[in-house]
Amino acid sequence: MKKRVGIEALAVAVPRRYIDIEDLARARGVDPAKFTAGLGAKEMAVNDPGEDSVSLAATAAARLIQQQGVDTSKLGMLVVGTETGVDHSKPIASHVHGLLKLPRAMRTFDSQHACYGGTAGLMAAAEWIASGAGAGRSALVVCTDIARYGLKTAGEPTQGGGAVALLVSETPDLLALDVGLNGVSTADVYDFWRPVGRREALVDGHYSISCYLDAMAGAYRGWRERAMEQGLVRWDSKLPSEQLARILYHVPFCKMARKAHAQVRLCDLEDSGSGPATPEARDEAAKSQASYDAQVAKSLGLNARVGNVYTASLYLALAGQLHAEGAALAGQRIGLLSYGSGSCAEFFSGIVGEKAAERMARADLDTVLAKRERVSVEEYERLMNLPYDAPEAIAPEPGTFRLAEIHEFRRKYAGA
Ligand code: CAA
Repeated sequence: MKKRVGIEALAVAVPRRYIDIEDLARARGVDPAKFTAGLGAKEMAVNDPGEDSVSLAATAAARLIQQQGVDTSKLGMLVVGTETGVDHSKPIASHVHGLLKLPRAMRTFDSQHACYGGTAGLMAAAEWIASGAGAGRSALVVCTDIARYGLKTAGEPTQGGGAVALLVSETPDLLALDVGLNGVSTADVYDFWRPVGRREALVDGHYSISCYLDAMAGAYRGWRERAMEQGLVRWDSKLPSEQLARILYHVPFCKMARKAHAQVRLCDLEDSGSGPATPEARDEAAKSQASYDAQVAKSLGLNARVGNVYTASLYLALAGQLHAEGAALAGQRIGLLSYGSGSCAEFFSGIVGEKAAERMARADLDTVLAKRERVSVEEYERLMNLPYDAPEAIAPEPGTFRLAEIHEFRRKYAGA
């Protein structure tokens, strides 16, 4: 029998502070509806230099191990997906490995391709397990990022930060992946990038949206072709994409998931041979509010409150979806779309596990978010202007890590 492989459990870590997105709009002299209705945001995570990509990754991974009672002696791989690297050579994975005192006999590495790095890590781990090379061991995949464009930029309301840790194993209590069904699409484009040495990302905002939609169309069509070959979806009275119970998207800002969903539907409507005849009618049918409400809207609860988390944003949507509907979705197939600028998109799918609700209850996401402190725009600006290498001396909350200092270019962490 083919091995079942996928995500057994997950944990989320977010910075301890956030701002209300309407406060930011007012401070910038913008109609708050642009950020709420126009971008789909409610709140935005704000990190301080002590909450770097390493400390967020280590906190999420430690939380996963503690909440789910993970036997670390059974781990054989640790991959960190990130675009917020802290060193040209030493990977974040090695910091996490040391902070969590994980076994020596492990493969550890970082995976980088903008927001796609986490999915690349997940697939490396899943295929390692599926191939038998893992010999029954599990993998930790941690997606960690700080989305930073800078004060008063167009990208400012789409910042955020955090980490999602995934336990990947042969016991996929959350999501059993359809290994090998993935559709991918790559293009060499400059839509979003962060040259070495820069703290803020550079982005060609509107172009990046069209790159995302273009790449995802290719990835979705690739997945659909394989899913049809295996009889998992078909041309029917329902579109192939409608045969998925839910579809989760990379969420740089929540409105993007709505645009992405319309694009998936447009691919089906264009290819069906029996859909609306004119391009205008197809566009209209693609934007179906009913389809968005049924298949996408419930996945966005956490993303709307945290903001962009680059590599982790798709997995924050997965967490939000299973937090909201884990029990109702058990046994059903969902689709997932990952996009990394530069670019690479991957569409994949999986079956929600019977124990999804139980696993998600242990992740205690309501408490993780409720512990955060709302700060003013003045405080957010103060934090944004702090130098990255001089973290304020704040004692870490129990169970979390913080960057304590950087001494002679070596990072030292405290906590957990
Ligand atoms: N009330 C309601 N809605 C309003 C409004 C108002 N008063 N004012 C404007 N809006 C709407 C606009 O109509 C628009 O909606 P549509 O896209 O549906 O037309 C929306 O609000 C945004 O308005 P603008 O396009 O005018 O906003 P902008 O030009 O200031 O910037 C942005 C938007 C391009 C997303 C910018 O925030 C940005 O550059 N963000 C970073 C880049 C990004 O997230 N790209 C996503 C794809 S790349 C990717 O996914 C990788 C990644 O993670 C970065």
